Amino acid sequence: MFLVTGATGGLGRRIVRSLRERQMPVRAFVRLTSRYSELEHRGAEIFIGDLQQDKDIEKACRGVQYIISAHGGEGNAQALGYRANIELIDRAKEAGVQHFVFISVLGVDRGYEDAPSFKAKREVEKYLIASGLNYTILRPSGFASNLLPLAEQFRETGIYLLIGDRQSRTSIVSTDDLAQIAVGSVSVEGAKNQILSVGGPDVLQRQDIPRIFGRIFNTEPIIINPPLFVLDGFRSALGLVNPKASKALGTFRTLLDNEFFCTPQEVENLETIFGMKMESLESFLRRYLGV
Ligand SMILES: NC(=O)c1ccc[n+]([C@@H]2O[C@H](COP(=O)([O-])OP(=O)(O)OC[C@H]3O[C@@H](n4cnc5c(N)ncnc54)[C@H](OP(=O)(O)O)[C@@H]3O)[C@@H](O)[C@H]2O)c1
Repeated sequence: MFLVTGATGGLGRRIVRSLRERQMPVRAFVRLTSRYSELEHRGAEIFIGDLQQDKDIEKACRGVQYIISAHGGEGNAQALGYRANIELIDRAKEAGVQHFVFISVLGVDRGYEDAPSFKAKREVEKYLIASGLNYTILRPSGFASNLLPLAEQFRETGIYLLIGDRQSRTSIVSTDDLAQIAVGSVSVEGAKNQILSVGGPDVLQRQDIPRIFGRIFNTEPIIINPPLFVLDGFRSALGLVNPKASKALGTFRTLLDNEFFCTPQEVENLETIFGMKMESLESFLRRYLGV
């Protein structure tokens, strides 16, 4: 039995799909308020709970052999990014789990002080490595699926909002490829007790994204490109009324202000370990947008 947290998320639901396509038994940890009927139809066992409740985590881990931690919670790094994962690791040990896959983030080890979510993930990585469990830590770059709503907006308007440096580099990863890698990690020998960077096959500049949209929809993109200090101004103002929300924006700012890409060697390593070819952003978008 696999336990998947964040099973209704962009990545988590693809992990559940991939497991069910392989006829594997899956327990999907979901909130009552989430949209989980697709997972149920695919034959996943639905576990209703809240990752902020230790008791729910303990129950969800019963009888499980594999755990894939794929939940988010950007607004609450302490409770969801950190605490919930520590609890999952402790309960996994108790339950004799054979392999724990943790979805971290590229650049997690660069010590960004202003990014609570990065700090939480780094601490969880350390805790998992020291736990004695078999593990795979995946450090992905940005997900291609995040761009689907932006592409739909672009289809309507031809406009793309790009905050900060247009030339900063990224290697957006196909969320489907990442899901396959997460699932494969429990059985592929080369992934055992490894930390793997996961990115798409191309190192893109951020300005390439609207260009790709433009190619797909046959439209010259209009790029609106405010500098990063506009976000800083907004953040300072927000801090006066909601300091917690302002602090949580630190992760977002860190993402905008830095480069997150994999080297060709890292991508090649990944393709060798998992015996697959990573999909380009353009191919991913065309597949989903039907163009
Ligand atoms: N998106 C990216 O570009 C990116 C890049 C690198 C790493 N990552 C990491 O990859 C993982 C998956 O990201 P994603 O974009 O797929 O996430 P997402 O779409 O934002 O989904 C987050 C998931 O966590 C669940 N969740 C949040 N709070 C919860 C709670 N209290 N109890 C139970 N479930 C809760 C959500 O459930 P609901 O449906 O109920 O809200 C949802 O299923 C995250 O760890 C993220 O940090 C993401």
